[in-house]
Amino acid sequence: MLTRREFAASLLGVAGAALLAAAPSRADTPSLNDLARRSGRVFGAAMRADQLAAEPALRKAAAAECGMLTPEIHLKWNSIENRKGSIWYEPVDQLVAFAARNGQKVYGHALLWEQSTPDWALRELKARRNWRLVSDHFERVLGRYGETIEVWDVVNEPIDTQGGRQGLRRNTFHRVFGPGYIAHALETARHYAPRARLMLNDYSFEYDNHVEADRRKTFLRLVADLKGRGVPLDGVGLQAHLDLGKGPLKRPVIAPFMQALADMGLEIYITELDVKERDYRATPQTRDARVADEVARYLDIALDQKAVKGVTTWGLSDRHSWLRIERGDRVDRKRYGNPAPNRGLPYDAAMQPKPMHQALAQAFSGGLT
Ligand code: G3I
Repeated sequence: MLTRREFAASLLGVAGAALLAAAPSRADTPSLNDLARRSGRVFGAAMRADQLAAEPALRKAAAAECGMLTPEIHLKWNSIENRKGSIWYEPVDQLVAFAARNGQKVYGHALLWEQSTPDWALRELKARRNWRLVSDHFERVLGRYGETIEVWDVVNEPIDTQGGRQGLRRNTFHRVFGPGYIAHALETARHYAPRARLMLNDYSFEYDNHVEADRRKTFLRLVADLKGRGVPLDGVGLQAHLDLGKGPLKRPVIAPFMQALADMGLEIYITELDVKERDYRATPQTRDARVADEVARYLDIALDQKAVKGVTTWGLSDRHSWLRIERGDRVDRKRYGNPAPNRGLPYDAAMQPKPMHQALAQAFSGGLT
């Protein structure tokens, strides 16, 4: 059987493949979102309003390539209300306005996440054990953006199969309200945003190892339980932080997991796609090829699943990537110089498109069927 890529290549022929490989800066070249749209999908990227404001090249690429933007930090509780009662909507408003000007959607990330909960709120949650703190936050954010933003990560990263309790992360919400906090958050979000689509977003579901197998099983169990009880859950975000140190991506691992989610009637968004390199002892060309291959392999599998409605990369340019070179990574500074930054996004630090960009374009074009 042909893979999506082989099939697309056979349809497009040599001329079509050359068109897809062309630099995306040409006005007549379809953008990533143009290509994604042809299969009814959307391409997006995480963005920060301050970076957009400061960098014309980023602005241009974000406007041209994306059909959706995810605020990388501005919608998080500790950005909106870092000090109790002092509310900061400005960067969200800027991003929402930028998206509106460019006919783009915004993806709501994220209402509840321990790591982005301000310290004062964590303290008060522990002291008062009062859900009102959470629901006030939801009411504020969804009251303002719940109509404009159609899709929301209501709970971010609830799974922890290693240090968690029955697979659920022992975060402050779990400690204070018990495992029911997830259902409660979804119901609260539904109350304040009756028309929004409500998601759970989590990571490390891609590779063939024990930890990720446990995570997939636990996540499926969690969403099946929520759906079974009629809790308002419309979809899931699969972050897809790919990692070149985790071994090959395997269709028999990923496809059935996505199918099980689809069978529950859930929409799937790939929400934070990027690639962590591990072996930096190579030329930028070789590194870029490895990154592109990983993305091609992943999307070849993921885009075969019709429930996948969109693909978002966690940034557009390596310049802004959250991925760092870590202890244990392989580096040879003498031979290759400083390897930073990690090259796991579609544009390099100078805003030039890389093979990962072509891999995305080609993967979306495979959806032309
Ligand atoms: O803006 C302040 C700055 O004023 C201060 O000097 C500096 C000191 O540390 O911090 C700055 O804020 C940082 C912010 O990024 C902007 O750079 C925060 O400390 C830092 O925690 C924050 O990191 C973000 C992180 O989420 C936490 O919100 C990353 O940019 C963002 O890429 C990352 O995204 C997460 C997703 O939300 C969930 N999945 C994993 C993904 C990667 O960690």
